[in-house]
Amino acid sequence: MKKIILDCDPGMDDSMAIVMAAKSPELELLAVTTVCGNYPVEVTARNARTTLEMLGRTDIPVAMGMGRPLLRERPADPFTHGSDGQAENHLPDPATPLCTSHAVDLIIDTVRQSPGEITIVCIGPMTNLAMALLKAPEIKDQFAGVIAMSGAFGLNRYAFLNATGDTPQSEWNVYVDPDAAKIVYESGIPLVALGLDVCTHFDVNFSQSDLDDFEASGKPEARFLRQAIRFVHGRGFQAYCTIIDCMAVAYAIDPTLVRTIRSRVGVETKPGLTYGMTVVDARHHHAWSALPEIEIGAEADYGRFLDLLKELVLG
Ligand code: BDR
Ligand code: CA
Repeated sequence: MKKIILDCDPGMDDSMAIVMAAKSPELELLAVTTVCGNYPVEVTARNARTTLEMLGRTDIPVAMGMGRPLLRERPADPFTHGSDGQAENHLPDPATPLCTSHAVDLIIDTVRQSPGEITIVCIGPMTNLAMALLKAPEIKDQFAGVIAMSGAFGLNRYAFLNATGDTPQSEWNVYVDPDAAKIVYESGIPLVALGLDVCTHFDVNFSQSDLDDFEASGKPEARFLRQAIRFVHGRGFQAYCTIIDCMAVAYAIDPTLVRTIRSRVGVETKPGLTYGMTVVDARHHHAWSALPEIEIGAEADYGRFLDLLKELVLG
């Protein structure tokens, strides 16, 4: 089993990613850490716990982390995940207490306890991980890797058509905390960044029969997803919005689902038109060799991804 920490900002798609991670027999979900992003950190810490309680997995600790990005103020989200941050599912208030550790310390301690074994899956702004690297720089050599829903790399039309940050070509998680993303991208930790290119591809969609299966299921997580799809359809968006972050967890479960390419990527940290952009230097000449090389998602097997998700949600 792959040991993971899931660092997130639920968020409806983060909630579904928690469902996948908690139910996958391939993953050992050691902890869920939360960060401010889609919502203030108190809300994301609440929603992580409501999701785990829905699954009956109160054994998985939830630690609350950074309440604001490293340097900038938290921007306003151009999108919404509903008044509860969970697509108006209105799960009951959590009874489970938060972990007494701060998320940053939990990340540091967990990695130190199992050096070389921990993969951190980041599906929100990278503030917690960046702060852990600032506080304990030596742990950068002790991660198995980072898998992130992060960036928009311009590899296909979806990268910018579906741009989620509040600039023409940025992705929300990087846009919220570009300084944190830059620290993680440049850290040297093996990083797989799955961007909007693959996570918002329009082939990520459900058939009517899938929707009927979710509706008819006795599983609360299936009904949660059905309601989330209804919610995004009501906003005029396609169902991919409900499961953007799930691609990162799916990749942790089965890396053959996504073809990645090694690329030099710089993160723009200066405000303005390109704020939060993840700029790929693909030139065959005069490339900026100081830019970090990471793996970026180029193509995914969307059918197999959806099958995996449905199996975990309905199973
Ligand atoms: C990312 O932004 C958030 O709204 C989603 O949860 C996802 O992590 C997509 O850009
Ligand atoms: Ca998220």
